[in-house]
Amino acid sequence: MPDLTVGIVGGGGHVGLVQAAGLASLGYYTIAYDLNAARIRDLQKGILPFYEPGLAELVQSGLKSKLLEFTGKIEHFRKVDMAYICTGTPSLPGGRTELLQVENAVTAVARTVQKQAVIAVKSTVPVGTARRLSRLLQQQRLSEKAVIVSNPEFLSEGSAVDDFWHPSRIVVGSAGPEAAEIIAGIYAPPHVPVIKTSWENAEMIKYGANAFLALKISFINLVAQLCEKSGGDIRVVSEGVGLDPRIGPYFLEAGVGFSGPCLEKDLRSLIGQFNDAGEEAPLLEAALYINQRQRYLVVSRLKKGLGELKGKKIAVLGLAFKPGTDDLRDTHTLPVIEQLISSGAEVTVHDPLLGAVSWPRQMSTFLPDLRWASSPYEAAEGKDALLILTAWPEYRSINLAKLKSCLANPLVVDGRNLFEPAGMAALGIDYRGVGIGAEVER
Ligand code: UGA
Repeated sequence: MPDLTVGIVGGGGHVGLVQAAGLASLGYYTIAYDLNAARIRDLQKGILPFYEPGLAELVQSGLKSKLLEFTGKIEHFRKVDMAYICTGTPSLPGGRTELLQVENAVTAVARTVQKQAVIAVKSTVPVGTARRLSRLLQQQRLSEKAVIVSNPEFLSEGSAVDDFWHPSRIVVGSAGPEAAEIIAGIYAPPHVPVIKTSWENAEMIKYGANAFLALKISFINLVAQLCEKSGGDIRVVSEGVGLDPRIGPYFLEAGVGFSGPCLEKDLRSLIGQFNDAGEEAPLLEAALYINQRQRYLVVSRLKKGLGELKGKKIAVLGLAFKPGTDDLRDTHTLPVIEQLISSGAEVTVHDPLLGAVSWPRQMSTFLPDLRWASSPYEAAEGKDALLILTAWPEYRSINLAKLKSCLANPLVVDGRNLFEPAGMAALGIDYRGVGIGAEVER
């Protein structure tokens, strides 16, 4: 293993913290820098700002070994040999990507390091950004101090630590072989393909991957519509389609659609990049459209079952954008709940990780009428319907007979297709999934 000191900018964020803790546990002296002073103070004490399975243990062991340092001072990067940029890339109106944080991070690192450092951009940035950053360093007479590499991140929330140890591939975009070798040499488990390529290819691979995942989900949600109308069952159709090895079984689960901080944002950014290049991207637009529609479908299904929603009591299971996380950024669940509340329904939520105590303060002003339950059964008690929005594994083992006895009216709208419709019908539950053709008989 090379004897390197590594700096992480954005070390208190999801990508940065996993990268920092992972590299420290590999034996690199790793300095995680973040502008958020409160976050840094907590991390110095081993307190994490979000939930990610296995990450707390990794951070604790990094702190114990003293190989992991958290700091709010960029001066600590003086001895850094290489730095990863893991800062945020917020969306601008129209979906384009704000790059100020990335640019500031790159120039701050280049100004601080004492010897030439390799700067690897992990944040998802539009194609052409690494070249632009390299030019920026030249303009600021900092190119002696830093070399830019594009090293996109493929971690998924909820499995990020596992993804760090077992990457599907490592992509390194650079203008020359030396910097690429350094990044590829940091951590590349045997048998993991390493693609050393140009800056632009590396940046495009990241967008291509996320956009394709989004397309797969929207495609299966589109087919789900026809399954419903024709009496089919999308779960069987997905299985049959996904068994073709050219297609593969992943990301073919129909439901309320994709959400979270990456897929939708990257899709919008990519559409913006097409438009900037004078091109249209109707396929990507359609994927976004279908995804938005899924959110209305679950609400209209509730309306169909209940008549109007005004005055109705509805239990919602799941608030996070996917299982294994407490992340609420761009989650589909909030717009759905907003629709319910604005239609006059009373909403009670259960989520295994989020509750009244951990519900962020800014959200309480955004959705003040939310009620909380500490179990799915408590959520269901006396309700007119139950809506499932996140596929938490614990929901699959719910005692359905008990759940039914809690509900005042046994209507379950399932945006994640967790249960067998026949079993639900046998229990007397009016069960409505996504893309399951029993709908046609109603
Ligand atoms: C996504 C990519 O999967 C990662 O490879 C990538 O590194 C990451 O974005 C990123 O750019 O940082 P993530 O946003 O953590 O990861 O979550 P996903 O597992 O992709 O799930 C996104 C959404 O799609 C969730 O709401 C999930 O419930 C939904 N989904 C997923 C479906 O509706 N159906 C499926 O079949 C699969």
